[in-house]
Amino acid sequence: MRPWFGATVLVSIAGLLSTLVCAGVARADETMASDAIRPGVDYHSFANVADFRVRHVALDLTVDFRERRLAGSVDLTVERRTQQAHQLVLDTRDLDIRSVEIVKGDAAQKLEYRLGSGREILGQPLQIEMPAAPRTDDPVVVRIAYRTQPQASGLQWLTPEQTAGKKHPYLFSQSQAIHARSWIPLQDTPQVRVTYSAAIHVPEGLRAVMSAAHEPTSAKRDADGLTTYRFSMTDAIPSYLIAIAVGDLSFHAISARTGVYAEPSVLGAAAKEFVDLERMVATCEKLFGPYRWGRYDLLILPPSAPFGGMENPRLSFITPTVIAGDRSLVAVIAHELAHSWSGNLVTNATWRDFWLNEGFTVYLERRIVEALYGTRREQMEDVLGLESLKRDMADLPAADQHLAIDLRGRDPDEGTTEVAYEKGKLFLQFLESRFGRVTLDAFLRGYFDHFAFQSIDTEQFLDYLRANLLSKKPNAVSEEQIHAFVYEPGLPGFAVMPPADVFTPIDRARSRWLAGVITTAQLPTKKWSTQEWLHFLDGMPAELPRARLDALEQTFALSNSKNAEIAHSWFRIAIRNDYTPAYPSLTGYLTTIGRRKLVRPLYEDLMKTPRGAELARSIYAKARAGYHPITQASIDAIVTPQR
Ligand code: BES
Ligand code: ZN
Repeated sequence: MRPWFGATVLVSIAGLLSTLVCAGVARADETMASDAIRPGVDYHSFANVADFRVRHVALDLTVDFRERRLAGSVDLTVERRTQQAHQLVLDTRDLDIRSVEIVKGDAAQKLEYRLGSGREILGQPLQIEMPAAPRTDDPVVVRIAYRTQPQASGLQWLTPEQTAGKKHPYLFSQSQAIHARSWIPLQDTPQVRVTYSAAIHVPEGLRAVMSAAHEPTSAKRDADGLTTYRFSMTDAIPSYLIAIAVGDLSFHAISARTGVYAEPSVLGAAAKEFVDLERMVATCEKLFGPYRWGRYDLLILPPSAPFGGMENPRLSFITPTVIAGDRSLVAVIAHELAHSWSGNLVTNATWRDFWLNEGFTVYLERRIVEALYGTRREQMEDVLGLESLKRDMADLPAADQHLAIDLRGRDPDEGTTEVAYEKGKLFLQFLESRFGRVTLDAFLRGYFDHFAFQSIDTEQFLDYLRANLLSKKPNAVSEEQIHAFVYEPGLPGFAVMPPADVFTPIDRARSRWLAGVITTAQLPTKKWSTQEWLHFLDGMPAELPRARLDALEQTFALSNSKNAEIAHSWFRIAIRNDYTPAYPSLTGYLTTIGRRKLVRPLYEDLMKTPRGAELARSIYAKARAGYHPITQASIDAIVTPQR
């Protein structure tokens, strides 16, 4: 090592270099929103991507359920991008680093490293002193021996009691947005894409799955009683799509290239619920171009999963709360599948550009729903989405209502709202209305093709849009209109709204029931879809008399609904009205389900009254240990009194 080259000197050189390069990752001291935001700069990573790029990640990890740790090593294939670069900076959070070395065949050379000062949201930079290289284009392999800590924010370790089968433990990862760094030291920014491979050693009787292809030699029994599974992902993906799960998993094929993994006791219901999987893939291919990832499987997680779904490539992770028994919530599957185009093929370069992932995906999702389940169903989902967007926007500061949002200094998990999803979708809907479907579909196919396996920012998309769509019909859309969607708050007056009348019969039924014109038994609910039920419940006035609540509960047993979305909407009404008969079921719901979108509003509602707050605290005391770290962080902020 060059003795006089102290770490601080190197940090400032790295800082200087990244200021000179306009795209890339921010300097570590530049996470606050003081200066103008620079498009394309990732303020949520320490990685000095202008100096070094990781190209391949090779994991060798043992899954230790007793200690709740992954332990082993990662080999990073690293490309040097500038001659002057001497320090490789990686992202980490709560990792125990054992050693860092450079390996070449059988030879290894130890490298100096240190963990820099931490930041609450970003974790800690791992600064590695790299030997001077004769040539810049020779990639080197950096091997890091490490283990994770039990509280790793990107992993959830479940006891057997928290699973469906109650016999085996379960582990799953959730790397988006910036949690990959809590289980792998790497350049944790979506603008760096890597291929990856993995050898995963698990206790006997358990199966490992990843967002990658199984190697045919998989599932070898080791001498020490562990089983090794091998994986490889040969397409370059951003770090947030690296994913793993381990548990008592069985598989059910739906078609030659699609299927479901789940615990054995859940598999039958899951296979029935998702019979349309192949049709969904085929529909999306017809609209937006070939599915480029080989297989498409689903993994059904335990109910503590923090999200409805996560689009891990080749293997979407799915909450079991989507299994309603009547396939009424499968839009989530269409959504995660659609990410195989919008998000996984063409990826947001920074979390400011998250709407490129989610807004496009909601648009694609609705197109799949329309093709498979009809226009009415699609319109209902549109209206529910719009209502949810309006509820979100009512509480959001103006700057957070732009499509491109400034998340500097904030955890990107907390900054994601319906704006990226539903306002993003409305932007594409607007383009569709101006150019027609045929033209927009062709444009989107071209877009996915042009940027396939690349990460882009908002401005790159807008340039491509101007050149390849707007120019086709020069007066159809103005720059002001684009600006209004992307850089201004609220919904533009010229946005194209879904037809307001799809729920008219439901609104009428609710009004007549509220006015006492019809009784509860006379509500025409027999043929109501889940979407109609949700609209019926979400549109209730803030206050309802006890007798009305009793009538709803006695007639429809809403507290015990098997449909997690309907139960959620009902519990919101119950909490607002302090309807205590629903509380035992509410307690059961909040202590089993950990999906943030379903539980967070319930805690928020409870915290609005002193009695509710007391209940929230007592439920949370029981529920917290079973929640995923991401859900814990969100609910802590609501329930734990701020000092
Ligand atoms: N990619 C998201 C989940 C996500 C977003 C994880 C941000 C971490 C940070 C996923 O595709 C998603 O949007 N899931 C939705 C379901 C969808 C139907 C809107 C969810 O979890 O509710
Ligand atoms: Zn999504």
